[in-house]
Amino acid sequence: MNAHAAAGAKAQHFDPQTSAFAADVLDGLSRQPKQLSPKYFYDAAGSELFEQITVLPEYYPTRTELGILRAHGADIAAIVPEGAALVEFGAGATTKARLLLQHCRIDAYVPVDISGDFLKAQAKALQRDYPELLIAPVVADFTTPFALPKAVADRPKVGFFPGSTLGNFEPHEASAFLRSARQILGPGALMLIGVDLEKSDSLLHAAYNDAAGVTARFNLNLLARIDRELGGDFDLSAFTHRAIYNRERHRIEMHLVSRKTQTVRVLGKSVSFRAGESIHTENSYKYSLERFTTLARSTGWTPQMSWTDDDILFSVHALVASV
Ligand code: AVI
Repeated sequence: MNAHAAAGAKAQHFDPQTSAFAADVLDGLSRQPKQLSPKYFYDAAGSELFEQITVLPEYYPTRTELGILRAHGADIAAIVPEGAALVEFGAGATTKARLLLQHCRIDAYVPVDISGDFLKAQAKALQRDYPELLIAPVVADFTTPFALPKAVADRPKVGFFPGSTLGNFEPHEASAFLRSARQILGPGALMLIGVDLEKSDSLLHAAYNDAAGVTARFNLNLLARIDRELGGDFDLSAFTHRAIYNRERHRIEMHLVSRKTQTVRVLGKSVSFRAGESIHTENSYKYSLERFTTLARSTGWTPQMSWTDDDILFSVHALVASV
């Protein structure tokens, strides 16, 4: 964020998180082309919309990854060391972690997420079902270095990063994350990571432009959030959701496109839009198996095994942290 945007946001006396959101919004909307970070999709309303996306008929990643984890549960169990601590980077619904807990000899679970309240609620529900499991949540931004709880220091570590969230990182951020995860988990650790694969334009287009319009509402919620939290006056009906596959850059791009020439007020500033001008809100990178394993090797990981569904839509990889 630039110094001007940061100073503008501070002047509003927001809490630190809202302040950072405000500064990033002012900064992003002053860029050419305009952009907003996808990390701001996930307020309570956005997280609920994302849960709805995961069960849409067109959105294949979630159910395909779950299918892979179910089908290869025994293979995964065979490489997860006994008494392991499962460290989940970003803890959403615990459905996928529960699958691993069912199959593997995991004694401790360390969900890591920026939202402390959400973590607590998830941990409580999980503890009810797994009373013996040591649950040690860490409130942290998992894209930056953090310390693991002392209680799991002596246990073998298994990182878990499902959902192809890695795809929402720019290539340099994906490398930085994998390097940092290796550092945090330590040499010899295992990492289980879900990675979405390149496929036909039509399947990708449908997955991000669902017929029920849930992805559109998810995208537009970003403007609603700016209105709610920062007192913006975005008129949601004056913007339209657009998702396109950029094959050259291997990524779905999501945009919010202004339907007309208009000026919006945010935090005391006027932001002008031309008709057809877009705010770029998200990239979702798709990998080939080869491009992902090359990335893993270049960031200190040795690919050990990988699994896909029969249609090769999605992949789950087991990596080992090089010593
Ligand atoms: C969270 N992430 C992996 C989703 C994706 O597919 O990139 C976010 C999403 N955006 C639109 N639909 C789903």
